Amino acid sequence: MQRLTNKRVVLGVTGSVAAYKAGEVIRELQRAGAEVRVVMTRGAEAFVAPLTFQALSGHPVHRELLDPGAEAAMGHIALARWADCILVAPASADFLARLAAGRADDLLTAVCLARGVPLALAPAMNARMWEDAATRANVQTLRNRGVLFLGPEEGGQACGEEGPGRLLDPVVLAARLGELFEVGSLQGRRVLVTAGPTREPLDPVRFFSNRSSGRMGFAVAAAAAEAGARVTLVAGPVALEAPDRVERVDVTTAEEMLAAVSRFAPEADVFISAAAVADYRPREVRPGKIKRTGESLTVELVPNPDILATVKSRWPQVFCVGFAAETGDLDRHARAKLAAKGVELIAANLVGPAAPEAGGVFDAEDNALTLYWEGGSMELGLAPKDKLARALVAAIAQRLAAWEAGGGGTVVSLHRR
Ligand code: C5P
Repeated sequence: MQRLTNKRVVLGVTGSVAAYKAGEVIRELQRAGAEVRVVMTRGAEAFVAPLTFQALSGHPVHRELLDPGAEAAMGHIALARWADCILVAPASADFLARLAAGRADDLLTAVCLARGVPLALAPAMNARMWEDAATRANVQTLRNRGVLFLGPEEGGQACGEEGPGRLLDPVVLAARLGELFEVGSLQGRRVLVTAGPTREPLDPVRFFSNRSSGRMGFAVAAAAAEAGARVTLVAGPVALEAPDRVERVDVTTAEEMLAAVSRFAPEADVFISAAAVADYRPREVRPGKIKRTGESLTVELVPNPDILATVKSRWPQVFCVGFAAETGDLDRHARAKLAAKGVELIAANLVGPAAPEAGGVFDAEDNALTLYWEGGSMELGLAPKDKLARALVAAIAQRLAAWEAGGGGTVVSLHRR
C-alpha cells in the first residue's frame, strides 16, 4: 500500500559516505507515493553531486541558506511549511551535534528548526562515532525533543569496521516514515474525477453550456485526496482553484473531456463522473460570427459521447460512480441510470423547483445526495458540499471494498498491480 501518497517529504542529505544511498531513499519514498524535495549540506556535496538528486527527485536541490535567488523561489520557511515531514538520511554525527545545539547556520538546520512537522533522522557514521559519549548525549537530547530515530543498523562499515552505524535500508526507511501518517479510506488508490460543465461552441463567440459550477466535483476531488488517493481532476470551464495535491487537467468540450479521461482511466481504480457534460453539441461550428438577420435560426444539435458509459464499457475494471440530477422521481430515474450505464454507484439529487432548500443546487453551498447501488441505497442528507463530499468518498471506499471482495475489478487488475 502506498502509505505516503500525497505526502510531501523534505529529504535532508548530510556528509556521510552513505550519502550515495540517498538516491535509493528518494526512489523508495516516491514508490510509497511521496513527493520529495532534497536539501543537501556542504558535506553531502563532497560525496554526491546535487545533479544526481535533482534528476531523481525531479526538482532542483536546495543548498544555500543565504542565496537571495533560492530564497525567493522557496526559502527555508517556505520549505518547512511545504513539508508534511522531514527525513534526514543519512544524518552524520556532526549534523546531530549541530541540530542538538539548535544551530541554524545552514539551510538544513534552519529548515529543521523552522518546522512544525515530524522530523526523522537516519544516522549513518562510523560505529565508534555513534557510540561516543558526545553523540549519545546528542541523540538523547534530540529524542527528548520528539525527534524520531530510524536506525542505524549493525553490520560491516565502509571504513572496514563492524558495529552500529549503517544507514537503515531505504525500503525500511520509507515504510517506517509512512507509519507516521494515518491511513485514509482510499489510501494509494488512483481516482479520476470530472467536474464542471462542458462548453460546446456554435461560432467563435458563442457556445452552449449549463449552470454547473463544478463545486461538487472539486469538493469530491479534494475529499478523495484527503482520503489518501492520487487524484486527477478533469475540469470543464469553471472559476475554481484546484484543490491541494490534486492533478488538474482543463478541458472545454465534451469530446476533449472524453479524450482527457481516456488518458487516465486505464490506470484508475475509481472514476467519479461529477461533470455536467453537455448532452448535445452543434453539428457544425460556424467559422465566422453568426449575423442577426431578423429571421428565425435553426441550429442542428448532435449527441455528445456519454463519457461515463464509455469508461465503464472500455475499462470494466474501474469502479464507476455517476451523478444523476433529477427534477423528480429520484429512485426510479437513479435505478434506471445505474442499469443503463452499468456503473457501480449513482449519487442522485433533486434539482430545480423540487429542491428549494438546496437553492436549486447549481452553484449552491449545500446539496443532498441519495446513493444507489445494486441491492442497496443510502441517504446523505443536506449538508455543505465539502462535508457531503467526504461522506460520499467514505461511502465509495466502502462500496469499492465490497465490490472487489465480490470479484469486481479483479480480471484486469491482476495484470495491472
Ligand atoms: O444520463 P445523464 O446525463 O443523466 O447521466 C448523468 C451522469 O452521466 C453524470 O455522472 C455525468 O457526469 C455523466 N455523463 C457523461 N457524459 C455525458 C452525459 C452524462 O459522462 N455525455
